[in-house]
Amino acid sequence: MELGFLGRTGVKVSRLAFGCMSFGGDADAETSAALYGAARDAGINFFDTADVYNAGRSEELLGRLSAGHADEVVIATKAYFPTGKDANARGASRYHLVRACEASLRRLGRERVDVYYLHRFDDATELTETLRAVEDLVRAGKILYVACSNYAAWQVTRALGVAALEGFSPLCAVQPMYNLLKRQAEVELLPMAQALGVAVVTYSPTAGGLLTGKWGSARRPDTGRMTSNKMYQTRYADPAHLVAADGLVAIADDLSVHPAALAVAWAGGHPGVTSVLLGARDPGQLGELLGAAAIAMTTELRARIGALTPEPPPATDRTEEKSANNYGSR
Ligand SMILES: NC(=O)c1ccc[n+]([C@@H]2O[C@H](COP(=O)([O-])OP(=O)(O)OC[C@H]3O[C@@H](n4cnc5c(N)ncnc54)[C@H](OP(=O)(O)O)[C@@H]3O)[C@@H](O)[C@H]2O)c1
Repeated sequence: MELGFLGRTGVKVSRLAFGCMSFGGDADAETSAALYGAARDAGINFFDTADVYNAGRSEELLGRLSAGHADEVVIATKAYFPTGKDANARGASRYHLVRACEASLRRLGRERVDVYYLHRFDDATELTETLRAVEDLVRAGKILYVACSNYAAWQVTRALGVAALEGFSPLCAVQPMYNLLKRQAEVELLPMAQALGVAVVTYSPTAGGLLTGKWGSARRPDTGRMTSNKMYQTRYADPAHLVAADGLVAIADDLSVHPAALAVAWAGGHPGVTSVLLGARDPGQLGELLGAAAIAMTTELRARIGALTPEPPPATDRTEEKSANNYGSR
């Protein structure tokens, strides 16, 4: 497994990382152990969870499974989304983040978390409060690196600016959604991260299972996340997604690779991406996803696959700059 630096931290993480969102939910304890073992056997050293995944069970299982070799893995968790009914059991306030971090450490059975993500931008909390709170957790030895997820590029750069002014730890990584059907990150987030040396750890490489071969304009499984989860159904409601899924399957057949592996390789093929988070409910799915490591994602192949979905418009709306009529090029 290839490793790369996590932004400018000097820490090396595997190019394919494992997301433990299924632990304690779609995957019971035994299946979670099998998934963890298969990920480790494949050379994965970077594991992702969150306090809200299956009400904390994901963190508990990951903590137990990594207990014997905590110094050989990089463990990331997150806070922001509601962990209880109380009005303050959510968000990125100092009040919640300190409690959330301590609760995550208890569940993980660790003294510190390696990478701590702010799971979403908090529109209600002053950003300086959030960043000062996580900085205090860094100084208390509870967090090694601070990161964010689901932030817009302007929110990341604003946070980097505040951190630089205040002497706080910079955000070392961002975690956006990124796959062939969801390409918004290409417009601002990925170029920003490349320019500023911020790591990009992408999630949902197979669009919640749509890009694994089981979904298509004439194919629809009976079970699985996309059949039962309203949030994902809403996110991927566009019928054009199924046509693109058909196209990916055709290219995968042509190359004799699994469509799930090709979807992962496509996401990881963007030069700004550090690691791609894999999500699976069982070791069979994980094995198919891991096939991505053997796919040579050339510029041509990436463009061929990318042509299946619309490229998002540029941030400036100067569409002509993608053509020969680019009067601003240097
Ligand atoms: N920061 C965030 O807000 C955020 C959000 C989401 C995820 N994440 C992280 O990113 C990780 C990966 O994201 P994700 O789970 O959304 O990834 P994904 O690849 O988009 O979806 C994974 C799901 O697709 C299906 N699948 C995967 N491989 C398959 C295969 N070979 N054949 C058939 N179906 C297959 C499985 O669901 P079914 O069997 O149910 O169809 C699996 O649980 C998560 O574990 C989590 O750590 C972060």
